[in-house]
Amino acid sequence: MGRLGWPVSALGYGMWGLANWSGTDRDAVDAALEEAVAAGVTFFDTAWGYGRGASERVLGQIVRAHPARRLFTATKLPPKNLQWPSRREYTLDDCFPADHIREYAEKSLENLGLPRVDLLQFHVWEDGWARDERWQRAMDDLRREGLIGAVGVSVNRWEPTNCLETLRTGLVDAVQVIYNIFDQSPADELFSVCQQLGVAVIARVPFDEGSLAGQVHADSVFPEGDFRRIYFGPENLGPTAQRVEALRAALPDDAVLPEVALRFCFSHPAVSTVIPGMRRPAHVRANVNAVARGALAPEQLALLRMHRWDRTPTAWSL
Ligand SMILES: NC(=O)c1ccc[n+]([C@@H]2O[C@H](COP(=O)([O-])OP(=O)(O)OC[C@H]3O[C@@H](n4cnc5c(N)ncnc54)[C@H](OP(=O)(O)O)[C@@H]3O)[C@@H](O)[C@H]2O)c1
Repeated sequence: MGRLGWPVSALGYGMWGLANWSGTDRDAVDAALEEAVAAGVTFFDTAWGYGRGASERVLGQIVRAHPARRLFTATKLPPKNLQWPSRREYTLDDCFPADHIREYAEKSLENLGLPRVDLLQFHVWEDGWARDERWQRAMDDLRREGLIGAVGVSVNRWEPTNCLETLRTGLVDAVQVIYNIFDQSPADELFSVCQQLGVAVIARVPFDEGSLAGQVHADSVFPEGDFRRIYFGPENLGPTAQRVEALRAALPDDAVLPEVALRFCFSHPAVSTVIPGMRRPAHVRANVNAVARGALAPEQLALLRMHRWDRTPTAWSL
């Protein structure tokens, strides 16, 4: 985990879907979490925004149920204006004034039912806020009081460099970024900066919200209220399905798409942990097995690099 040196597992656990996506079976989620802990997963990512604390409460339960295991907890402060992602014109006061940072850090700890959270991340970020001492002091106070172990920034979708100046302050220990076979741009610049500075990289959305796991098809329809209804709306669904098909056609017949997608992410040496969303024990097992197969070979990575898909933030790319 970069300069933090925490022994986190290469496979982490993303905890958004279990609180906010349709089709969640709570018993299956509990079994999936138990299976992950038993298999050696030690890093869990949640946020107050995932069901207004619901996902944090689930994480707290699993951590408290395993007092002998060192499980690393990461959560996120919601922006005060509750707008995801942030926009260039938003100010620090719109999103993270000091009293809001304190209030939501305390709310998260209460939801988790823990005296401290290992990593507290900003759930949106603008690099223009980098040198503002107000967030720096607020986070430093939480750290000195022992309420948080480290500070992280979760960068907006398809804006991996919108944090570089912030990382150079030396006050941020981890960056969470979308990185997968389609979204490869973090490897252009962000990853080398992280490696130079010893900043941990948490690779999120390894399956492009499910398409790279084979869960989304040209005729997929998600119910009202499910984020995927917006993300896989008319503009994105067809092109995504076509690109997934092109990728499948390029892979050897015996390749398993989710396995290849996951191994692609942790094949980059800058990546500390990859955090797929997993709500079923079978998915945990498959992903644990994928990690056990190790990094991809250079020729496999070269092939996957050709499936890069550069996109720019738009109305549906929350
Ligand atoms: N702004 C932010 O900071 C932000 C934004 C987005 C995500 N995140 C974090 O990143 C995590 C991961 O992203 P995500 O959950 O949005 O998307 P994702 O990991 O790209 O995709 C999750 C989807 O993949 C499926 N899946 C997982 N393993 C599979 C396997 N082996 N075979 C087939 N399907 C499999 C899941 O199914 P099941 O759910 O049915 O198991 C789910 O439908 C989140 O949970 C959250 O912690 C952070």
